[in-house]
Amino acid sequence: MRIILLGPPGAGKGTQAKLISNEYSIPHISTGDIFRKNISEQTPLGVKAKSYMDKGQLVPDELTIEIVNDRLQEDDCKKGFLLDGFPRTVSQAEALDSFLQQKGTKIDKALLIEVPHEFILERMTGRRVCKDCGASYHVKFNPSKVESVCDLCGGELIQRKDDSEETVKERLEVYSNQTAPLVKYYNEKSNLCKVDGTLEIEEVFQNICDILGSDK
Ligand code: AP5
Ligand code: MG
Ligand code: ZN
Repeated sequence: MRIILLGPPGAGKGTQAKLISNEYSIPHISTGDIFRKNISEQTPLGVKAKSYMDKGQLVPDELTIEIVNDRLQEDDCKKGFLLDGFPRTVSQAEALDSFLQQKGTKIDKALLIEVPHEFILERMTGRRVCKDCGASYHVKFNPSKVESVCDLCGGELIQRKDDSEETVKERLEVYSNQTAPLVKYYNEKSNLCKVDGTLEIEEVFQNICDILGSDK
């Protein structure tokens, strides 16, 4: 199954992606996580990406498309994959479609996790992420069992630099201008499904499983 997850920052894409990837045994590919790993390793890609991410702006399409194409060539993507945070512009979506077309495949489902902007700030400022595996927690809505320690891998939980109020506002603006047009794009391809992201994490996941069905 080839799936993409759409939705504003803080909608719960990363949270649901971990659950879906586990349930359907497909790799979870998050461009945000790939960039953050490169930043922490201070690679040339990381240095370039950081200057955009710190401001809440998008990393340029050419860079982003190239890293996703490379990742999708890896063996573990042969049976399917889950893209989280990509595509984020119409150009990225077109590049993804043409890449898949060359391989004789296509996106099966685009899942849009809908959360009104007024919910987002509280989610972002209370978010904690695992330094090692990228898992997302929330101090109020989804706390880890032991404070500041990841349930999954024991890594340290930290706050993301771009989760400050000012940067979150910029990210929401960027989402409305550059990413929201993808809703129309996938609607026209008839593979868009909407999910209410304001429900509890487990309920959102159940609704996603109902949409994806038992087709693994
Ligand atoms: P990225 O890392 O993708 O960030 P984002 O899209 O802004 O989304 P987030 O990761 O902030 O939110 P999420 O939807 O994953 O929510 P989460 O599950 O953590 O991108 C970061 C940056 O990288 C971009 O700004 C850009 O610069 C660059 N970038 C990445 N991809 C790019 C691309 N394709 N092109 C160009 N640039 C790119 O949940 C949020 C919080 O809410 C957590 O605390 C969680 O515990 C809590 N929560 C989750 N679900 C629920 C629920 N149902 N109820 C209550 N709380 C919940
Ligand atoms: Mg995320
Ligand atoms: Zn972890």
